[in-house]
Amino acid sequence: MLEFLQAAEEAARLGGQVLRQWQAKFTVREKSKANLVTDADFASQRVIHEFLRRRFPQHGFLAEEDLLEAGGNSSFRWIIDPLDGTTNFVHGFPYFAVSIGLEHDGELVAGAVYDPSHDNMFLAAKGCGASLNRRPISVSGVRQLDQALMIASLPVATDPNDIAVRRFLKMLTHAQTVQRTGSAALNLANIAAGRIDGFWSTSLKPWDMAAGVLLVREAGGTVSRIDESDFDVDMPDLLASCGGIHQELSDVLLAVRG
Ligand code: IPD
Ligand code: CA
Ligand code: CA
Repeated sequence: MLEFLQAAEEAARLGGQVLRQWQAKFTVREKSKANLVTDADFASQRVIHEFLRRRFPQHGFLAEEDLLEAGGNSSFRWIIDPLDGTTNFVHGFPYFAVSIGLEHDGELVAGAVYDPSHDNMFLAAKGCGASLNRRPISVSGVRQLDQALMIASLPVATDPNDIAVRRFLKMLTHAQTVQRTGSAALNLANIAAGRIDGFWSTSLKPWDMAAGVLLVREAGGTVSRIDESDFDVDMPDLLASCGGIHQELSDVLLAVRG
């Protein structure tokens, strides 16, 4: 496992380095309305993929910028977001990250989330705990929703009547505060570090979540779907928290119906 975690870390640092290099000179394109991509996304993905493929030529790969490789008969799949928080990156707002998760037989086993703006490396391996810059981390002990710092992730170009917006408004009346930050991977990493108490979304992709979910679990937190059923990296909904407020969070969100 150590070999995989070290590879994830090294690849995430390489991706982060590329993001730093591109920060002053990228060009932006809209994939769809308000959904941005830059040269930096592609350059970071290229360097990460090349590094990991050289190390693990038999493994499968899934990465955001149109990369899907089944891999020989391997039961390993790398799930990569070369730049999570592209909109923040474009604006120079330093809340974005590289996210690299590894699945074995459908189970998340290693994850790295790297924040290149602050040189923060979050790592987790199944059964081995989570760390930030090599120091062990754990989730917060918050047990009441009115003491909780929550984060929501809304779909891009959301309609004001969308259930995601109504859930956000509902949560405002229950939590201490609700923020929207633009990087799902860093939100999860920060739950693991005890700085955020909960995060939910119904519009995520596997690469937004894979590494961060393992971080939260290994830091002692809880991850499920919104209705508290088992988390599934291939489904778009996620509820992650420090644990003590998990059921209450789910109840508040489910009280708002489509
Ligand atoms: C986005 C971020 C954001 C989430 C979006 C994602 P990207 O990833 O994780 O927090 O709300 O759903 O698409 O596009 O910056 O990699
Ligand atoms: Ca993303
Ligand atoms: Ca991305």
